[in-house]
Amino acid sequence: MQGKRILLGISGGIAAYKIAYLIRILKKQGAEVRAIMTPASSDFISPLVVSTLSENPVHIEFWNKETGAWTNHVELALWADVLLIAPTTANTLAKMASGICDNLLLASYFSMKGKTIIAPAMDLDMYQHPTVKRNMETLLSDGVSIIPATEGALASGLEGQGRMEEPENIAAYLNDFFLSERTLQSKRILITAGPTYEAIDPVRFIGNHSSGKMGYEIATSCLSMGHQVILVSGPTHLSLTHPNLQLIQVRSAQEMLEAVQEHWKTCYLGIFSAAVADYRPAQVESQKIKKQADEFSLNLLKNPDILSWASANRSKEQKVVGFALETNNAKEFALDKLVRKNLDFIVLNEYVKDVSGFQAETNKITIFDKDKTTFEFSLKSKKEVAKDILSIVLKDYK
Ligand code: C5P
Repeated sequence: MQGKRILLGISGGIAAYKIAYLIRILKKQGAEVRAIMTPASSDFISPLVVSTLSENPVHIEFWNKETGAWTNHVELALWADVLLIAPTTANTLAKMASGICDNLLLASYFSMKGKTIIAPAMDLDMYQHPTVKRNMETLLSDGVSIIPATEGALASGLEGQGRMEEPENIAAYLNDFFLSERTLQSKRILITAGPTYEAIDPVRFIGNHSSGKMGYEIATSCLSMGHQVILVSGPTHLSLTHPNLQLIQVRSAQEMLEAVQEHWKTCYLGIFSAAVADYRPAQVESQKIKKQADEFSLNLLKNPDILSWASANRSKEQKVVGFALETNNAKEFALDKLVRKNLDFIVLNEYVKDVSGFQAETNKITIFDKDKTTFEFSLKSKKEVAKDILSIVLKDYK
């Protein structure tokens, strides 16, 4: 919980009185807490109590009637690691499910990029009402997590399910959530894609014809399977957006290496499909080089091998997949690379101009694993090839 930012939404139910205790627990465990209250909730708990315990101002209205200052709900939502709405009344639940945005708490919910967790509380018949159940299902399918109400004595005098979960258990739920989020992050997949451009002067570079399509298709497939992806991409015309994708755009091999070095330890699988330039100009001229003699030579330096770096700097659990594009003695060179770079898998791309390889829409691949078992595939679209690659390299992962 240490350092976690919790945006606490309080709606107007009797269980709001327990929130004082919840804030104390969260603060004690090291979390930062900022609270938003619906206007109705201040009938159940004083904003003064909430602001004093959270050590932050409490937000209720869209704007402060005394100073005229606007409360930025987008900023509050961006600040938060988690929005926890406790208690969540039937009214707030219904508005969240149907998109009604008539108070600051709801506006913050609709601005939230991170997780929202709700702890409903209401009388037993309300909790069982088909509308309430339907709204909860809608929220679940919207990605909201629900801490179910518990059974026991209710404010109405009745007994049954409807009590907000106890503050200790809500805090424990949050702890579990942050823990599982960390594990998930360590299950990310890192993918390199596209060419690298090695600058000669401010306007020229050494590059290659890699389109990046293969790497982007692999990233798309991983994302659709629910994985978190870090895509380190050289210059391409492609674009990809997804909530579970971190796209890092680089130009040179050196920049690609730095991005990989920064993120590799948080990933369990690296798929290195980039066509990294083997050499770069030893010196990058600061001014455009003028045309002069008939002959011109460039002094080149070997680039770092990113895949070899990742392979040499990994834990037992981390797996690496390399690619080979060869025009002759393909199998032999691919197997040599598998051993030399100490890879778990190598994907051999057959190069047939315009049909298979760099700029083509299709690829014909053969995969070798580290025991040199061979998996042959026919010529397919890069989208299907991406699925074939993942069917082999992800087969040991759940
Ligand atoms: O040695 P070669 O360039 O043929 O190896 C190809 C494989 O190594 C590809 O997976 C490519 O992404 C990776 N590679 C790399 N860094 C380099 C050169 C290649 O990651 N500098």
